[in-house]
Amino acid sequence: MRKMTESNISAAFAGESQAHMKYSIYSDKAQREGRPNIARLFLAIAYAERIHATNHYKELGHIKGAADNLQTAIDGETYEVEEMYPAFNNVDKLQEEKGAIRSTEWAWESEKVHAGMYTKAKEAVLSGQDAALGPIHICEICGWTVEGEAPDICPLCKAKRDHFRKF
Ligand code: FE2
Ligand code: FE2
Ligand code: FE2
Repeated sequence: MRKMTESNISAAFAGESQAHMKYSIYSDKAQREGRPNIARLFLAIAYAERIHATNHYKELGHIKGAADNLQTAIDGETYEVEEMYPAFNNVDKLQEEKGAIRSTEWAWESEKVHAGMYTKAKEAVLSGQDAALGPIHICEICGWTVEGEAPDICPLCKAKRDHFRKF
């Protein structure tokens, strides 16, 4: 792909990805407001944006096999853990932005777990077909991630067990 096209498609991928995320979040909000049709509208269009993002991403040649995709994921999570969130969190503290301190800490701690899980999964993929993996539980408040049973209390945000979603 020629450079200018690549940069445009890359920007389009970023834009569609953000649209997908925003609409999903707006959908949840509309659901909580008791507007199921607005929630469904946002959810459906979020899905269309995901398809646009997928098509752009495909054209960029970034979709590979599981082992390579896991390595890309490991690199991204590791960058967040070692550089991005430590730096951001320090700025949050310097500027006394309480909400940002909390949201970056929640993400930072969770990304450490993600990097570890992806690393384990990549090793498994390199020596077999699929990873051996138990249930995964995600805290819907802070994104804390555990393989296995959900804890009674989330170690990151102290939410109760019923706030964990199983995958
Ligand atoms: Fe779109
Ligand atoms: Fe992550
Ligand atoms: Fe949590």
